[in-house]
Amino acid sequence: MRISPVTQNSYTTGRRAPAFQSIIRNVKDSEGNIKNSNTTCFFRQDLHWNELATYMDNKYRNSEKVNIYSYGCSDGSEPMSMAVLLNERFKFNARKYFPIMAKDNDDFILDKIRSSCTRMYFRDIDAVIHYSQNNLGKYFVINNQLPENESMIVHPSYETKSKIRYSKADVIKDVHRLPEKDTVVMLRNILPYIPEDKRNSVINTVTTKLKDNCMIIIGDLEDSMGIGEKLEAAGFKKTPLNHVYEN
Ligand SMILES: C[S@@+](CC[C@H](N)C(=O)[O-])C[C@H]1O[C@@H](n2cnc3c(N)ncnc32)[C@H](O)[C@@H]1O
Repeated sequence: MRISPVTQNSYTTGRRAPAFQSIIRNVKDSEGNIKNSNTTCFFRQDLHWNELATYMDNKYRNSEKVNIYSYGCSDGSEPMSMAVLLNERFKFNARKYFPIMAKDNDDFILDKIRSSCTRMYFRDIDAVIHYSQNNLGKYFVINNQLPENESMIVHPSYETKSKIRYSKADVIKDVHRLPEKDTVVMLRNILPYIPEDKRNSVINTVTTKLKDNCMIIIGDLEDSMGIGEKLEAAGFKKTPLNHVYEN
């Protein structure tokens, strides 16, 4: 299975750094198989983030409220990427997208979120600088520190934290509560970590619950599992954007 991104640029030196990501953590069972992974990063490169924002802007132009759910949010890199993107692109008008509902079922990662300390590798920092139009300091506080393994510990600012509501939830149960209209579900790189016999039911519930003017955004792992085809079979259309489906 392939998961993006695979390389990272150094933020200070321009050197190639070893791959990647704001958190790298695989949990294995007694036989050494990966049973969960929290590995994530900011602005994963499989999505065309700016085009996604433009697409959402057009689709939800007449909607007063848009509900964004990030399932398997890990340390928050994904919902924070979305929050920075929408806030920078739409300024005052971004309010209808917030708070983003970010959910994970792993106590280890929920403790990390509570601590308000996020590790950002230089690639993460570069990406936030890029998408925030050089406004890194608006979204993250980086205290004076020496980089460690080409990464730094940062603290999401109030500007960032206030746009996301984190909670503990199991995607298998939580999708039953999704709002049926004007909802965007990020179901990215989570499906391999839920029991095989529950995966179809999650997809069926999501596609049944999301009735009107909704989007589903999958990740590389779901793509390689054929989830895109299942969404289409359930009546969702593939958009011109990679990994993005809609009805
Ligand atoms: C590989 S990370 C993906 C993070 C992010 N979505 C991304 O693509 O970068 C998978 C996350 O899904 C979470 N997860 C696994 N099973 C879950 C479940 N049943 N309900 C909610 N979260 C789950 C894990 O704890 C982990 O943080």
